[in-house]
Amino acid sequence: MGETFFLLLFVEASRATMIIFRTFLFFLVFMATTKIALMEEQTYIIHMDKTKITDSDHQQYYQAVIDSITKLSSQEEEEENTPQLLYIYETVISGFAAKLSTSQLKSLNQVDGFLFATPDELLSLHTTHTPQFLGLQNGNGLWSASNLASDVIVGLVDTGIWPEHVSFQDSGMSPVPAHWKGTCEEGTKFSISNCNKKLIGARVFVQGYEAIIGRVNETVDYRSPRDSNGHGTHTASIAAGNFVNQASLFGLAKGSASGMK
Ligand SMILES: *[C@@H]1O[C@H](CO)[C@@H](O)[C@H](O)[C@H]1NC(C)=O
Repeated sequence: MGETFFLLLFVEASRATMIIFRTFLFFLVFMATTKIALMEEQTYIIHMDKTKITDSDHQQYYQAVIDSITKLSSQEEEEENTPQLLYIYETVISGFAAKLSTSQLKSLNQVDGFLFATPDELLSLHTTHTPQFLGLQNGNGLWSASNLASDVIVGLVDTGIWPEHVSFQDSGMSPVPAHWKGTCEEGTKFSISNCNKKLIGARVFVQGYEAIIGRVNETVDYRSPRDSNGHGTHTASIAAGNFVNQASLFGLAKGSASGMK
């Protein structure tokens, strides 16, 4: 089973794609089943009540939460590490990610504003379905011409992206939506110039992976949004890839490939 880390890609595509894509995301998230064996320390995504955050500097606030649970749990257990703040969440949820011991996790119950903790998991990859499987037909239903409008941004969480792939060339694309506030994050073999009007942003999130597995092995993988695995490139092109004529797999299944727009 391939272990992987996750990152977020932003690919501009149509409204119809967005709807289909949501279905995909549910498949990806809920069909992924491989879990790692329970360890004494584990990374958790901690959900907090936004209204209880007492410091406008969230980093400082969550650091204080971590310090307090470290202190609380050290009264029960000895010689525990002070957890490192891995990520802070401020947009869709409020909270943070950190690798905690069992007693540190328990101590969270004494923190005002703590809602719940979700264990971080390593997920295995699952493949996708085709437009045909979904009954999509050019000119009909979700694929009718009026639905091919741009100005929709698709976010994808997967193994990365190969930005030179022909599916992510930006010929015929309208300008990047003005409301886009995202980032094209640089890293190993990935620079700002790898983003364009199709691939409008890419970020890498390795902290959860590295908290479990250790540093990314850069002889076999990239510490950047670049995709060493191929899965993210595959799903991103299915969700929102540009039209590619005369595509085939070693001469088989010849046809026009495109995102489901
Ligand atoms: C990284 O991967 C290579 C190739 O599989 C392997 O030879 C090497 O030992 C790995 N390095 C570490 C630090 O695991």
